[in-house]
Amino acid sequence: MLFRHGCSSLWTAYLKPANCYRLFSSRGQSNEHYANIDWDNLGFDHVSTDYMYTAKCYQTGEFSQGSIDPLGGIQIFPSAGVINYGQGVFEGLKAYRKENERDILLFRPYENALRMKKGAERMCMPSPSIEQFIKAVKQVAMANRRWIPPPEKGALYIRPLLLGTGSLLGLAPAPEYTFLAYVCPVGNYFKEGSTGLNLYVEDNIHRSTLGGAGDVKTISNYAPVLKAQINAKNRGFSDVLFLDSANKSFIEEASASNIFIANGNVISTPSLKRGTILPGITRKTIIQLSRSLDYKVEERDISVEELSKAEQVFCTGTAVVVAPVRTVTYKDQRFEYRNSTVSNELHRILIGIQTGVLQDTMDWTVPI
Ligand code: COI
Repeated sequence: MLFRHGCSSLWTAYLKPANCYRLFSSRGQSNEHYANIDWDNLGFDHVSTDYMYTAKCYQTGEFSQGSIDPLGGIQIFPSAGVINYGQGVFEGLKAYRKENERDILLFRPYENALRMKKGAERMCMPSPSIEQFIKAVKQVAMANRRWIPPPEKGALYIRPLLLGTGSLLGLAPAPEYTFLAYVCPVGNYFKEGSTGLNLYVEDNIHRSTLGGAGDVKTISNYAPVLKAQINAKNRGFSDVLFLDSANKSFIEEASASNIFIANGNVISTPSLKRGTILPGITRKTIIQLSRSLDYKVEERDISVEELSKAEQVFCTGTAVVVAPVRTVTYKDQRFEYRNSTVSNELHRILIGIQTGVLQDTMDWTVPI
């Protein structure tokens, strides 16, 4: 139940958001203020929140201190590098509210900061320091605190962007850069939720090539997969599973997540060695978590034929978390997986750690 309430906490008083609500949960009365949205039906859709973070980098190569300002459009010239030549990288990470509703946890922000740094190098861009990245993420999450879903309702998805916003005409690195971050409250990425995804193996369109930038979270890796994604969705599938472009025989990843198969005590995922697969932070987490649970984990080539014999298949990603796969369709064959015990177990433990319900023995969570 939602009640309108005056905003008086330190953050909300400083930042003066428009409407604050107090949420009275089944756990008793909360002192937290919440935005007035339907917390029970969050999907993965854009929601306009209150504030964004922005920092600029001019010719010096150093980023300005950065500021939190009301969420709004950014002004760039039509000649900006990012909109002409796609010079941009992004990240995605989540902040969760702990059971007491006050404490907020970030999940592995250092990993995102590091990935942005590596991606920026590949795309010939300066990047904010690890410290600046983490500070920006903390600031933007706290400024939008009322948008962090109540416990068990979802997470605050934080989207840092690094963009070549300076003007140019010939192909070259942009002369100026903008580092910004905005947030959205999110629930399940797929409407299928835990019932299982139906994947379509795409053997014509590829997301990545040898020597390309498939292992970089660059903005230019995403629009090229839309065609395959839309084709698959139009045919009733949840998402696309891409094959390696050199051999058309090894599975690589889905359009927004990494892929795993499980057989008995062995969990396997495609190896990163070709540089064609995004090094997902949830992928890395699931590998570490599985090993700590005494699964044998292999990073190796997985042929599409192996999907016919796999006992369980699942996808992982920040947005997706851990999602069981119910079917995979390859040409005229359909493989079905009735069991999702492994992904259910990993999902439960991962969410437990992310929300502070389970002990974080790996030091993955960062309190804000
Ligand atoms: C994420 O999982 O954070 C991503 O960036 C995937 C995106 C396409 C939603």
